[in-house]
Order: sequence, then C-alpha cells, then structure tokens
Amino acid sequence: MHFLPQQLDDYVVAHSENEPELLQQLTRETYQKILQPRMLSGHYQGRVLSMISKLVNPKNILEIGTYTGYSALCLAEGMQGNGELDTIDINEELVDFQKKYFDKSQYGNQIHQHLGNALEIIPKLNKTFDLVFIDADKPNYVNYFHTIIDKLNVGGIILSDNVLWSGKVIEALKPDDASTKALLEYNALLKNDPRVETVLLPIRDGLTISRKLPS
Ligand SMILES: C[S@@+](CC[C@H](N)C(=O)[O-])C[C@H]1O[C@@H](n2cnc3c(N)ncnc32)[C@H](O)[C@@H]1O
Repeated sequence: MHFLPQQLDDYVVAHSENEPELLQQLTRETYQKILQPRMLSGHYQGRVLSMISKLVNPKNILEIGTYTGYSALCLAEGMQGNGELDTIDINEELVDFQKKYFDKSQYGNQIHQHLGNALEIIPKLNKTFDLVFIDADKPNYVNYFHTIIDKLNVGGIILSDNVLWSGKVIEALKPDDASTKALLEYNALLKNDPRVETVLLPIRDGLTISRKLPS
C-alpha cells in the first residue's frame, strides 16, 4: 500500500538508491513464475532494509519469511564480512528459486536456508542475532517476538513488516479478520514491552524498528 500520493512516492523512490541488477532479475522471475509476487519487498523497501542493515552492520541476521529471497539479499548487504544470515520459509516450492539467487549473489556461502515452520526452527538455531526481520504469517507475529527476544543481542534490532496492514489497523475490526487482530495485538506489544524501544515507520505497508534494551 502507498500512503503517499503517487507523485510524491515516485519522487521518494527517484531520490533513493537504485535497485541492484540481481534484484531486478529476481523480481522479474518472481512475477513470471511464482504465486503472489506482491509479497516481495520490492525496490524502495528493499533499499530501506539494506540501509538499516548497513547501519546495524550485524554479524548474525535472522529472517522469518524468505519468499523468493529478495529481502534476504537486501539485508545481507549490511552483514559483516564473516556474518551469517539464517532465513526460514515454510513453502518448499520456493527453496530452489531462493538458492539460485543466493548463489548468484556474493552471499551464497553466508546464507542458510531453513525449510519449515519458523516457530519450530527458531528454538533449534544455536546462535544469537543482531538483526531480525519478521515478515511471515501475521497471526504468529506475537509468537515470533516471544520466540526470538531471548536470542536477540542487547542493542539488536527487530524489523517487523506489514504492521499497518493496508490501513486496516485503524478500521473497525471484522470478527473473522485474524491477521488484523493479531497485528493490533503485536503493535501494542512492541509499544509496551519494556525489553524494547520501538518506532513505527509509515513506509510501504508499515515497518516497525524495535531495539532491544539492556535488562
Ligand atoms: C510476505 S512473504 C515474505 C517476503 C520476503 N520477506 C520478501 O520481502 O521478499 C511471507 C512468507 O512467509 C512464509 N511463511 C508463512 N508462514 C510461515 C511459517 N509459519 N514459518 C515460516 N515461513 C512462513 C510464506 O511461505 C511466505 O513465503
């Protein structure tokens, strides 16, 4: 969703970094071959993710929701030279596509793909993280937070995508709308949990930055 008028949005994109060629290829192939291509982060949000990752300069990154690998490659741009990125997706049909693009990038050896339910995989990852990107099924966002918070280093960052959910977070809640209900709960959790400080950015569909505080 674009919250800005189209002309202003175009200006914002035109005055931000260009999209790397590999990500343009990945986007084209996603639109040609994969269902629901709009799930991909895309040019502008991808450059935001890349910039945040470069500012954090993480050693270990965790991504929940790989899809075709676009955001993983953006986040990898800021990773330390000896860093690692673990990315999880439940859809086995995406694995070969992701791997093809990870291997075409300079980060192929540093990206670890995990296939399965993130809630089952995260507890088995024997490492801590400096940067976590949550971009999977919305009803589990609260569960993802509770599963990763003890694996997040102090000063580490959680980025949460789609937190404005096309503006539905401020509309009357429909009884069968589990995703909006979950995001309302999640946004309140990030605002109130004393372990993190949080800023919600109105970028694309809403991107929250939460930073872990010392205990
Ligand atoms: C919005 S897409 C991710 C987009 C990707 N981060 C990007 O920006 O290019 C969400 C992904 O989460 C995955 N997913 C949904 N539920 C999941 C779960 N429980 N565990 C792991 N992955 C899940 C879906 O298969 C889908 O590929």
